[in-house]
Amino acid sequence: MPSLGEEEITSLNHLFKIGYLGLGEQVEIFENLISEYLNRDFVAVSSGTSALFLALEACGIGEGDEVIVQSLTYIATYQAILAVGATPISCDVNPTDLSIDLIDVQKKITTKTKAIIPVHYNGNAGKLDELLQLADKNNLRVIEDAAHAFGCKTNNKIIGSFGDITCFSFDPVKSLTCGEGGGISSSDKKLIEHVKTTRFLGIFRSKDDNISGSKSYNDEISTQGWRYHMNNIHATIGIEQFKKFSTIKEKRQKLAKLYNEFLSCISGIELLPFDYNAIIPYLFVLKLKNHKNTDVIRRLKDFNIGSSYHYYPCHLQPLISKNKNEYLPNTEKNYSKLLSLPMHTNLDESHIEHISNSLKKIIDED
Ligand SMILES: Cc1ncc(COP(=O)(O)O)c(C=O)c1O
Repeated sequence: MPSLGEEEITSLNHLFKIGYLGLGEQVEIFENLISEYLNRDFVAVSSGTSALFLALEACGIGEGDEVIVQSLTYIATYQAILAVGATPISCDVNPTDLSIDLIDVQKKITTKTKAIIPVHYNGNAGKLDELLQLADKNNLRVIEDAAHAFGCKTNNKIIGSFGDITCFSFDPVKSLTCGEGGGISSSDKKLIEHVKTTRFLGIFRSKDDNISGSKSYNDEISTQGWRYHMNNIHATIGIEQFKKFSTIKEKRQKLAKLYNEFLSCISGIELLPFDYNAIIPYLFVLKLKNHKNTDVIRRLKDFNIGSSYHYYPCHLQPLISKNKNEYLPNTEKNYSKLLSLPMHTNLDESHIEHISNSLKKIIDED
């Protein structure tokens, strides 16, 4: 569930009175807020998936190129690679924190490799500094899939404030939501300028052009573009979300720490080594020792508790696995043990206690 309130409604009412809903002033305000927060250039787009696609396209990655990516991710990461015409090369994860396995990355670099996409699973960036060094040595781009990681820290640095290219998602269930939305931060100014054009049909529009209509439809177009810009409606929600983000952050971190406390007595589960002072948990993920996640998910439903798991490995999806027979041991051994429990700011301590006790009953019964 998103953390929405009257503030978003009041601002949307105001926007509706102004009447300009497209790519305009609110998008620019949202971009400036995030850019200031990350201390880096930032461009807002329509989704995390379009952010990944536009970043890959801006790096000139396309047919014949390979992109190394961890298989334990949402299919969006793979779809973005396929959409530019490149080949995703599936990579394993570290079994402890589910971040990309650097030894496997190294093994998979070929002359066709153009980029590496680590996925900051639940906001944890793993050994990002080492990955950036490895990429630098091999002259590769690093496009971070930070869909889970807005506001999270690694080695005391905010994700998206350093590195090559960072892609965020602000979709309906992310810690900071725009309703739908995404964004790219980068130290590569040319890349950001390119995406400011490609996100909107190859047309570069400043907010003033839009409001005055001065550029209207007489633009000269020299770049292929898509219709992947953020609009004022989504940016308005994002601006209000950003204002309350420190409250959202504290609540999510507190809930995750409570889960850790309540669940620590269950011997049939393994708590993951996430630092809940550094990450802002998008999910609350744990590992089941002996149970299969789909069984536990089904049984939690009897307690009226919705749960899920993240993710079914992408390299096993029919879209990816055809004509290939890849084996990624850590991914394959772990995915059916992962369990995601409810995590949103409308929960309180009594919910966490109830969910934990219900899980304990299920695990202890067997
Ligand atoms: C790891 C990961 N990558 C990419 C995306 C895509 O983001 P969006 O839903 O905003 O397109 C998501 C969305 O949940 C995600 O979890």
